[in-house]
Amino acid sequence: MLRSGIIATVLLAAMAAGQPVLADDPVAGEVLSEVWCSSCHAVRPDDPTSDAAPSFDTIVNVYERSPEFLWGWLAHPHGAMPNPNLSRGEIDDIVSYMETLRDS
Ligand code: HEC
Repeated sequence: MLRSGIIATVLLAAMAAGQPVLADDPVAGEVLSEVWCSSCHAVRPDDPTSDAAPSFDTIVNVYERSPEFLWGWLAHPHGAMPNPNLSRGEIDDIVSYMETLRDS
C-alpha cells in the first residue's frame, strides 16, 4: 500500500516534470491538440477550417513543415500565436500526432 503510493507519487512527479512516461504518443497528442489547439486550428482532417490559423493538415501537407520545424515552433511559438507553454513530452506527443496527418 505504502509502496504503491510512493510509486504513484514518483510517476506523477515525472509527469508533472514533463518526462514522457510513454514516449511520443500520437493518441495523447490528438487529445492535447483538441484541448489546446482546436480553438484556433482545425486539428483533425474533418474539422471545419477557420481563417484564424492554418489547419494541421495544411501545416504538414501544404506548408510541408518538418517534425523539427514543428518541434521548434511549439517550443518557441511566434507571430500571432500565443505560447501554450508545453512540456517536452507534450510537444513530442503533439508532433507525433501531426505526423500521422502527413500524406506521404
Ligand atoms: C489563439 C489561437 C491559437 C492557438 C490556441 C494555437 N495556435 Fe497555432 N497558430 C495560430 C496562428 C494565428 C498561427 C499563424 C502564426 C503566424 O504565422 O504568424 C499559428 C501557427 C501555428 C504553426 C505554424 C504554422 C506554419 O507552418 O507556419 C503551428 C505548427 C501551430 N500553430 C501549432 C499549434 C499547436 C500544436 C497548438 C496547440 C498546442 C496551437 N498551434 C495553438 C494560432 C493559434
